[in-house]
Amino acid sequence: MSDALHRAAEAIRGARCAIALTGAGISVESGIPPFRGKGGLWLKYPPEEYASIDGYLRNPGKVWRFWLELAQTLGGCRPSPAHYALAELESAGRLEAVITQNVDRLHQEAGSNNVIEFHGNFSRLACLDCGATRPTDLEHLDERPPRCHVCSGLMKPGFVMFGEMIPTDALIEADRLAQVCDVVLVVGTSANVFPAASVPITAKRHRAFIIESNIEPTEFTESVTDAFLEGPAGEVLPRLVELV
Ligand code: APR
Repeated sequence: MSDALHRAAEAIRGARCAIALTGAGISVESGIPPFRGKGGLWLKYPPEEYASIDGYLRNPGKVWRFWLELAQTLGGCRPSPAHYALAELESAGRLEAVITQNVDRLHQEAGSNNVIEFHGNFSRLACLDCGATRPTDLEHLDERPPRCHVCSGLMKPGFVMFGEMIPTDALIEADRLAQVCDVVLVVGTSANVFPAASVPITAKRHRAFIIESNIEPTEFTESVTDAFLEGPAGEVLPRLVELV
């Protein structure tokens, strides 16, 4: 892996515009379970029931309790060394942006400023009837699905569920970056979910160098990855940043 690590560091050093695409794997060492693979949430909780808008409308109580419990876990989690490594690359002027699929806001907590939240985040609730939003104030939420303070309609967590649209500004900015960047650092994603997974593919089509940090190979490893850094991101990324 040291050859891949050196090639990755060289690519970042020489990059005009490097970006990162991160997934749940970057937060595993912060104590947040991934969705797929070892310990994946979807092995126990089928995503069509727990992470789709149809599933939420079919059984708001059950789905709300699942996300409330996960949000309470998030409360105690801190950024991993991998989050800090990306923040350090940004402050050294070596990383333009982090495009994240995660809703845990650990990139911001680690000090990354330019974070594109491709799947939104859990910091607000949104009304499905009138569109009103309000902060997700965990202290004043309980097991009952939240009701709208304006129209008493059913509210949902502010992040994107399967069957919902990606926030337009995130979609446009991520696609723009994918076309102009010359390095993508892909960290902790199973490359299963589109359109987020199209970022490295678009970048590759524009001749970008693709670095992948994961504990195991993914769909990208054979097809788009130029340097595969095997191992936990919390160990690999700090070493990569040191070399850069
Ligand atoms: N370091 C690096 N990678 C890791 C680590 C680690 N310590 N632990 C796990 N991984 C890898 C796994 O091997 C897997 O490839 O992280 C990836 C996690 O994949 P998923 O759980 O599928 O997460 P993600 O790719 O972000 O899922 C995309 O799917 O369910 C939806 O909206 C949800 O944003 C999510 C999207």
